[in-house]
Amino acid sequence: MSKALYFSEKDIQKRVTEVAHSINRYYADTCQEVVVIGVLNGSFMLVADLVRNLYGTLIIDFVKVSSYKKGIVSNKNPRMQVGVSVPIKDKLVLIVEDIVDTGHTLQKVIKHIKRKHPARINVFTLLNKTSRREVEVLINWVGFDIPNDFVVGYGMDYAGKFRNLGHIRPLLKFRGEAPMKVEQKSSHPFVAGRAPD
Ligand code: PRP
Repeated sequence: MSKALYFSEKDIQKRVTEVAHSINRYYADTCQEVVVIGVLNGSFMLVADLVRNLYGTLIIDFVKVSSYKKGIVSNKNPRMQVGVSVPIKDKLVLIVEDIVDTGHTLQKVIKHIKRKHPARINVFTLLNKTSRREVEVLINWVGFDIPNDFVVGYGMDYAGKFRNLGHIRPLLKFRGEAPMKVEQKSSHPFVAGRAPD
């Protein structure tokens, strides 16, 4: 298993703490509260771990984007299912994502938040798959850059499963966690072997 695709609980906690320190330094000069907005469902563990390491006064909220993903294939046109439920006009907003893949979800969330006129928007994603990017999105802090493989754990799922794992790992195809069927058209092993709809 490639090291770049496996992150132990310890790896994750260490990196989240490092990023939290960087975020603390970034906001150190402001006396304003920061509104942390996690993108559900995947970010629930990350937000919980991150905010325990952030200083200052925080407001914590979540949004939910309905992607209608089929198996592992991203949707280019996600829909806001649950929007921000706290006032963010003129506030400092920190969006927290577990993973940015094509970028469509984050783009949608940023557009939704911008319409509410915050003072500033910053973004932290734990995982970043730049090779899959289809739209350009703002990201200020990245936990780990990863190659183009499907990972689960620490909030991330496959067909709703594996979110509870404390670590992050690829799907184990040999254990039947992902379908073995391969279509030759795609160069992406998991897109090629996508789950039946
Ligand atoms: C995942 C992840 C991101 C999004 C990234 O969410 O949590 O929000 O995909 O993909 P993109 O960059 O290609 O848009 P998903 O839609 O699977 O929902 P979930 O968080 O409930 O698992």
